[in-house]
Amino acid sequence: MTDSEGQRRAGYHRNWLTIIGTALIFLGVAGGIVLFLVEVLAKGAAPYLGINYLLFMGLLVVGFILVPAGMLREGRRRRRHEGGELRELRLDLAKATHPYAILSLVASFFAVVLLVGIGTYRSYQATESSSFCGQVCHTVMEPEWTAYHRSSHARVACVECHIGSGAGWYVRSKLSGLRQIWAVAINSYPRPIPTPIRDLRPARETCEECHWRRKFTGYKENVRSYFLGDEENTRHDLRMLVKIGGEKTAFLKGSGIHYHMMIARQVEYIARDERRQEIAWLRVTRADGSVTEYRNEDYEMSDEELAGLEVRTMDCMDCHNRPAHQFPSPVESINAALAEERISAELPYIKLEAVKALDNGWASPSDAATGIANEIRGFYAREYPEVVRKRSDELTRAIQEIQTIYSNTMFPTMKAKWSAYPNNIGHIESPGCFRCHTDAMVSEDGDSVFTECSECHLILAQGESIQQVNVNLETGLDFVHPDDYETMDEYEECTDCHTGGADVYE
Ligand code: HEC
Ligand code: HEC
Ligand code: HEC
Ligand code: HEC
Ligand code: HEC
Ligand code: HEC
Repeated sequence: MTDSEGQRRAGYHRNWLTIIGTALIFLGVAGGIVLFLVEVLAKGAAPYLGINYLLFMGLLVVGFILVPAGMLREGRRRRRHEGGELRELRLDLAKATHPYAILSLVASFFAVVLLVGIGTYRSYQATESSSFCGQVCHTVMEPEWTAYHRSSHARVACVECHIGSGAGWYVRSKLSGLRQIWAVAINSYPRPIPTPIRDLRPARETCEECHWRRKFTGYKENVRSYFLGDEENTRHDLRMLVKIGGEKTAFLKGSGIHYHMMIARQVEYIARDERRQEIAWLRVTRADGSVTEYRNEDYEMSDEELAGLEVRTMDCMDCHNRPAHQFPSPVESINAALAEERISAELPYIKLEAVKALDNGWASPSDAATGIANEIRGFYAREYPEVVRKRSDELTRAIQEIQTIYSNTMFPTMKAKWSAYPNNIGHIESPGCFRCHTDAMVSEDGDSVFTECSECHLILAQGESIQQVNVNLETGLDFVHPDDYETMDEYEECTDCHTGGADVYE
């Protein structure tokens, strides 16, 4: 190799593409180092920081494409102009300068690999973090993000349920994430976000990574307080055992909801609506192999119509569809606030007025805040001027509490609230268990799926005092309906009157 040839080849990098590429690489490396230092020094201070690695990684990638592209182009250009041959780059270890060149080449190679490694890892971590999922598209995710922080899963990352582990799901979720970002960018996303999510990962690979379906959970005691919509806000308490149950063991015979629904049987169903609230067909396969099919007589559907719909095997999420994003109804929120004395039950008709003020279809959070205050104040000014005079502090606190409940549970911008996202556990405000446990769900033999209250839960005590319990644990007490004090011992569709909102008062 002659000197002039060496110079000629060395000159290949002197072209604007390669120079820009080199600058980008320097910028990427320097940015990465600075970001890394900032992260180490400001530990945990800035949740978004990790995302910036994506930017610097992008610079590096573009740089690494531009540098050789520029050199190739330059080579081709010179060949055309000078008629010379493009020689292969040869390494000659005997040349004194080469070992240093190789050493610095290897060193910078490792430095870049290291940086790219850290950058990739941190970018991955960042896009997997709950704050990325919940806050980057702030308005869109606000309802779920808010509800999530009030759930038992507030410490479980979004991705644990929405993605689960494994590269395949990571890529799938990022592709669908890109689609979603696009939808947000062009403002074409649906409000409310439709559920159930079609490609949610199966429960076996998410919920069951942490919760063991065979665990025997036994009975769970629920204590609830209700307040009626009368002048006194009459209180009615309820204490009951929900028969969750679980696996058969040497001591336990195997019983309860989880046992029957998850272990001893497989239940498949067809829903006729998108939200899986209207179940038209059912098939149960029991442990002994016997099979029964049921059809819902309320929905007249032909075999062809049914055949066109998806058959779904029931899993955790068909009951627990709101493990992290529960939007409690106005009735439920106000009952809880009264029971915990965040709202004073001494204010006449406060239950009724608070539910009506919440369930008013406000167009925006600020409309709701002023509207709620005006409605409640207006009511007391009109009907109970002495309350405004004597209980002004209690009234102000009640209004603030109702406003807080509104902003924690209703999101007009995204049209997210309890009625948009019914909870399938229970059966009072939405059909829930009664989607299948209804007299209308009938088999070929004419039997319907059972609806006896005590198969699912036992009432221990109800009414004014729930301290004393003296009941037969096989059957429990018949439910006394707080509104009319009638006992309810057989199936009645609670959702005919109860919706969770103000409808029940009509
Ligand atoms: C414990 C599991 C779990 C965690 C943790 C979780 N989700 Fe969900 N999420 C679900 C399930 C289950 C659904 C589907 C509900 C349905 O099918 O009705 C859902 C639905 C959603 C929906 C659709 C709208 C809706 O309310 O149904 C959004 C958006 C969402 N999640 C975002 C998030 C974000 C953001 C996070 C983290 C801040 C998160 N989720 C954490 C289980 C979870
Ligand atoms: C990463 C682990 C993890 C995953 C995944 C997970 N959970 Fe949980 N779950 C927990 C923890 C922790 C608790 C809280 C236990 C406690 O407070 O005693 C909990 C509590 C619960 C409870 C009882 C409290 C309540 O809110 O009623 C239910 C029900 C539940 N999880 C259902 C689910 C369902 C359904 C899924 C799948 C969509 C799921 N979990 C996914 C860890 C997890
Ligand atoms: C047929 C409906 C149904 C199915 C299917 C179902 N559950 Fe449940 N589960 C319930 C009910 C009802 C309760 C008690 C009500 C409550 O949460 O207060 C419950 C309670 C729980 C609890 C809380 C136990 C406690 O001590 O508080 C956990 C955890 C749980 N389920 C996990 C799961 C998991 C995981 C699956 C899927 C393998 C599953 N469930 C499937 C209906 C169901
Ligand atoms: C998709 C339909 C469907 C839904 C939703 C559903 N179930 Fe069931 N459930 C069934 C079927 C079908 C059977 C079995 C009937 C049979 O074997 O003949 C059953 C059986 C049971 C059993 C066993 C009773 C026994 O003695 O064998 C319990 C307990 C139960 N369900 C509780 C619940 C609870 C609680 C909910 C709501 C959280 C619920 N189910 C929601 C379809 C459903
Ligand atoms: C298929 C099972 C099933 C049947 C049948 C059933 N329930 Fe329930 N019920 C539930 C579940 C599950 C819950 C929710 C428990 C929870 O919130 O943790 C519930 C909740 C309730 C509650 C408390 C409501 C609340 O959330 O404040 C009342 C009251 C009630 N049921 C009454 C009845 C009566 C009366 C009957 C008979 C006419 C009946 N149930 C039949 C499963 C059932
Ligand atoms: C014919 C209409 C109707 C049906 C059906 C009905 N309810 Fe009610 N229920 C009412 C009315 C009206 C009230 C009084 C509401 C108030 O004053 O706040 C009420 C009050 C209640 C309350 C206490 C109030 C509260 O804050 O929640 C409970 C609990 C309740 N009903 C449970 C049930 C259950 C469980 C069923 C189904 C098994 C059922 N109801 C079916 C009309 C009905």
